[in-house]
Amino acid sequence: MNTNKDSVPVVEANGARIPLLGLGTWQLRGRICARVVEQALRLGYRHLDTAEIYDNEAAVGEGLRASGVKRNDVFVVTKIWPSHFAPGEFERAARECLVRLRLSEVDLLLLHWPNPQIPLAETLGAIGKVKREGLARHIGVSNFTVAQIEEAAKASGEPLVCNQFECHPFLDQSKLIAACRQRGIAVVAYSPIARGNARNDEVLARIGAKHKKTAAQVCLRFLVQQNIVVIPRTSKVERLAENAAIFDFALSAQEMAEISGLAQRDGRIVDWAFSGQPKWD
Ligand SMILES: NC(=O)c1ccc[n+]([C@@H]2O[C@H](COP(=O)([O-])OP(=O)(O)OC[C@H]3O[C@@H](n4cnc5c(N)ncnc54)[C@H](OP(=O)(O)O)[C@@H]3O)[C@@H](O)[C@H]2O)c1
Repeated sequence: MNTNKDSVPVVEANGARIPLLGLGTWQLRGRICARVVEQALRLGYRHLDTAEIYDNEAAVGEGLRASGVKRNDVFVVTKIWPSHFAPGEFERAARECLVRLRLSEVDLLLLHWPNPQIPLAETLGAIGKVKREGLARHIGVSNFTVAQIEEAAKASGEPLVCNQFECHPFLDQSKLIAACRQRGIAVVAYSPIARGNARNDEVLARIGAKHKKTAAQVCLRFLVQQNIVVIPRTSKVERLAENAAIFDFALSAQEMAEISGLAQRDGRIVDWAFSGQPKWD
């Protein structure tokens, strides 16, 4: 774990420096979204996660400008939806993200989900071109399996800096984490507090009580202590500080092992089962 000039811990991956804590924004829209983004940045968050499908890029950009934090101090991530992977459409979609965000480039552009209907090499060619044209500083993927990560790492002309996927203590993602690490690809955990379920877990709550932390904080700490980037979402300004206060305590090896024991192979919350293909959400 390294620290950048603002003392926000970062993870280094294939040339990118990704703040270990980001703000998830799925389902946040309009004024609430802009306000949460603004407050998060004022509190020290330096990484924002949005996507064209979230229908909130304009509000995210608005919150960024309202915060007064310098553009270059914030790591902005957006994602292209798989229905825009067709040749010709990809670049147009990426340019439209920038128009909505009112930015000249994003720090990281992701393929939101794999699209089995379009050859991966073609899509990687399109995202690589978008990077070389200066629309994105770095590129990466999301919801890629071990096999897809292997294929993508080989086929991409530009380095892939992250795979963003569901990751929390209740789901065993050890193989996917290892596959990413082998290739220097950062792991970005989405749904890192299991969509709020961490709050109700007895093990996390008991360990939290020892450290004077909440179950959600222990859950996030468990991930960042493994150099896994977390992007918890909240619509409540008061929870922003709670979710950020995860760098002032450490879990013991025994506590880490106990939390690892919560993992289940079928502990997924986000539903991929849709006629054998991922259900895109
Ligand atoms: N790449 C992908 O396909 C993909 C898929 C899913 C998510 N994501 C990204 O990952 C982000 C995070 O994932 P997520 O939104 O699915 O789930 P999450 O961050 O694990 O959980 C969000 C939920 O937890 C609640 N919450 C937040 N902080 C809390 C706390 N300290 N204690 C108790 N409850 C708390 C929130 O409710 P309140 O609003 O009431 O606080 C919200 O209902 C998304 O917002 C999105 O940016 C990406």
